Order: sequence, then structure tokens, then C-alpha cells
Amino acid sequence: MKRIAVLASGRGSNLEAILEAEKRGDLSSGRVVLVLSDCADAPVLEKAKKAGVKALFIDPKNHSSRESYDQALVDVLKAAQVDLVVLAGFMRLVSPLFVRSFPMQILNIHPSLLPSFPGTDGIEQALAHGAKVTGCTVHFVDEGLDSGPIVLQEAVPVIQRDTVHTLRSRVQAVEHRLYPTAIDLFCRGMLKVEGRRCYILD
Ligand code: GRF
Repeated sequence: MKRIAVLASGRGSNLEAILEAEKRGDLSSGRVVLVLSDCADAPVLEKAKKAGVKALFIDPKNHSSRESYDQALVDVLKAAQVDLVVLAGFMRLVSPLFVRSFPMQILNIHPSLLPSFPGTDGIEQALAHGAKVTGCTVHFVDEGLDSGPIVLQEAVPVIQRDTVHTLRSRVQAVEHRLYPTAIDLFCRGMLKVEGRRCYILD
């Protein structure tokens, strides 16, 4: 059974989707054991606690550098013997120190079809660019910005009357299905990364 930690800064709808998948039995080889947040009042912390998952706020203000903060996260994650780190709306760029502590053991979900529209505003960028299709991407985290090997992607059409709000909610509905699927594949040892390519074993 793989031990999963979810790092998040906000609403926590992806955490909810992952916990629901676990409840349904769709995460047969993984269990969420810990939720960490860099934001004291993030709703994700309450959601985790309600589901009976240990949830901790780790305050960036207590650390003078990104490395020092990330080392604190790594210490907590290692103490909890975490096998997979899941970033779900964690609004900080993790440092090389963090990435090297969990090589090919960190997943992220991004609201665009990478490598298009990386960064914090993937939905806004797709609309501003006039893209007709966008979507979401689950990828391994490397030392770049939204640049690691892609695990799963799914397209979402942009419709004429879309606003940031309507497009985001359609993309998120897909995220809530795609992320648990990717996490399950990881936990069952079905992902193999060679260079930039991530193969799904059968
Ligand atoms: C997700 O939509 C994801 O694409 C982005 O952050 C958002 C987090 O949403 N990385 P939530 O907190 O899971 O609701």
C-alpha cells in the first residue's frame, strides 16, 4: 500500500475527488495519510480533517528561504514515510531540494494541455490566446515549471461563451476523474518513465 501525501493551498476539490476515489475502492493500492498546506485558512485542511486524514499547516513565515521551508516539508513527509507526493493546487514552486528528495515520486495537475500555458493562470491564458481546445495534464514534477514527464492528459473544448469561471469548472470536472486515475496507476506500479516519456504498463 503506497502512502500518499497531498499538498494544497486552496479549496481542495481535487483532494475530495481523490478521497472519494479511495472510498469507492478505486485507489486499491494507495492511501492518503497526510495533507499539508502553506495556507492557514485553506478549506482543504478542514476537508481533510472531516475525512479523518491528518492535516497540517506549515507556515512559510517561519522560514527565511524557500529551501528551508521545503526542507521542513520534506522532514514531515519523510517522517510519515510517504511514497507519493500529490500537488493539488499547491501555490508554491517547489525547490530542487524538494524534487530531489522525491525523484519521480511527485505528481502535479495543471489546468491546460502542457506544454501550452504553464504557470499559475492556465485557464486565463487559454482564453486570452483564443485556443479552441484546452484541458488538463497530470505530470511528474521535475525542477522546471510544469515541465516534467506527462502521465495523462485530456482535452476540454473551449466554447464561444466561456468565461474563466465556466471553463475552469469544466476543466476541473475532468481533473477530478483524471487525477485519481493517474494516482492509482502510480500506486499500482504501472508507470515507467524513460526520458521525457511516461509509459503505462499493461
Ligand atoms: C486545480 O484546478 C489545478 O488545476 C490547479 O489548482 C487547482 C486546485 O483546485 N493546479 P482545488 O484546490 O483542488 O479545488
